Amino acid sequence: MKVSQVWQRSPKDVALMLANGTRPHRSFQAKRPMWIMILLGLVCLSLIGAYVYPPRHYSACYFFASSMCTPFKDWLPARPSRERTDEELAASVVMRDLLTMPMPKPRSPKIAFMFLTPGSLPFEKLWEKFFAGHDGRFSIYVHASREKPVHTSPLFIGRDIHSDKVVWGKISMVDAEKRLLANALEDPDNQYFVLLSDSCVPLHNFDYVYNYLMGSNMSYIDCFLDPGPHGNGRYSNDFLPEVEESQFRKGAQWFAIKRRHALMILADSLYYTKFKLYCKPGDGRNCIADEHYLPTLFHILDPQGIANWSVTHVDWSEGKWHPKSYRAQDVTYELLKNITSIDESFHVTSDEKKVVTLNPCLWNGSKRPCYLFARKFYPEALDNVLNLFSNYTAV
Ligand SMILES: *[C@@H]1O[C@H](CO)[C@@H](O)[C@H](O)[C@H]1NC(C)=O
Ligand SMILES: *[C@@H]1O[C@H](CO)[C@@H](O)[C@H](O)[C@H]1NC(C)=O
Ligand SMILES: *[C@@H]1O[C@H](CO)[C@@H](O)[C@H](O)[C@H]1NC(C)=O
Ligand SMILES: *[C@@H]1O[C@H](CO)[C@@H](O)[C@H](O)[C@H]1NC(C)=O
Ligand SMILES: *[C@@H]1O[C@H](CO)[C@@H](O)[C@H](O)[C@H]1NC(C)=O
Repeated sequence: MKVSQVWQRSPKDVALMLANGTRPHRSFQAKRPMWIMILLGLVCLSLIGAYVYPPRHYSACYFFASSMCTPFKDWLPARPSRERTDEELAASVVMRDLLTMPMPKPRSPKIAFMFLTPGSLPFEKLWEKFFAGHDGRFSIYVHASREKPVHTSPLFIGRDIHSDKVVWGKISMVDAEKRLLANALEDPDNQYFVLLSDSCVPLHNFDYVYNYLMGSNMSYIDCFLDPGPHGNGRYSNDFLPEVEESQFRKGAQWFAIKRRHALMILADSLYYTKFKLYCKPGDGRNCIADEHYLPTLFHILDPQGIANWSVTHVDWSEGKWHPKSYRAQDVTYELLKNITSIDESFHVTSDEKKVVTLNPCLWNGSKRPCYLFARKFYPEALDNVLNLFSNYTAV
């Protein structure tokens, strides 16, 4: 990562210097002394350039002979070659082995459906229909952070885990996610771990969801670079040295991750501690821990191992503070089919440019619809979704 930064950034600076220095282009073919003078001029300009635009994350010495650099060395930040702390070294060897060790293949692999909810789940009847006939291929966990849920489906009875209060935006949200993961990891058959909210509905039948997740080798963690105030604007230098600003990422919290990555989340304390201390709402930067911790963690530890989009659809296209929510009258066959047919992930930056990025959703190398679940649906939408379920999930 660091090496690629050096090679991405430096040629740009050099190009800038060249552009400044070679304006009289014809002179190259002209007399020799002129050519030498231009060369000398270039060297001078480069040195001035290095002085005026001091590189932030790397040393200009990659480009110049070290003897030339000696006078600058003292004031250039020496971060790339800094010594790692004890904690960083320990974390990096644990994570490296977790990433590469062989994982046991269970005889009957299951998907853990982990519901993060304030209380009762309005769509239990729908989920019951979704799970029907698939015993032994799923397990359910419910973290209710405000009040004890009243269950309407026998599948959910006895599935509440020990829960704690969750404060929006604070690390307690991440703690609840970790609590769900720890409970679900106890069952060695669980291979994928899906985080869902009380307002989520399934977009496909169980077989489709099962094959989609089990057939891929990725974790579906939403992750993108947002240079705006709700992205990197929430970064602070307190994250240094472990997390540089260029590594800070954003994404929706609703993930579907493989077992290896679930273990890595529980194994991490280095990055977790940083986010616990320095990413909180209401301190001016208004950092929301659950929107940054996992995207940043996996962007650093295993960027190739995550899809960069979430399999749970949410519609931010209205550009408001809250995503679009669906009432009973909004729920039609056409709406659900529209959502299931989307095959590009959507991201928009929070700065005034509002740059939209669309990326094809690549599943095992080929383009495929992105979403397995969707939110946010009001409880009143239950009957409509239930009535349409067999229809919109028919392939
Ligand atoms: C994924 O792609 C590889 C290579 O194209 C193929 O061999 C494999 O069967 C695919 N996996 C699934 C689940 O389709
Ligand atoms: C899945 O990914 C892991 C690393 O994330 C890799 O070691 C393994 O070979 C991959 N398996 C397949 C079938 O691609
Ligand atoms: C996700 O984004 C990272 C860069 O942030 C990239 O290296 C990686 O290949 C992306 N993953 C996929 C599956 O495209
Ligand atoms: C479905 O998508 C079509 C084409 O993008 C659009 O015209 C229509 O309004 C959408 N319908 C619903 C209910 O979202
Ligand atoms: C589902 O409903 C739509 C519209 O109501 C209809 O056009 C379609 O044929 C139905 N599909 C199935 C598989 O029943």
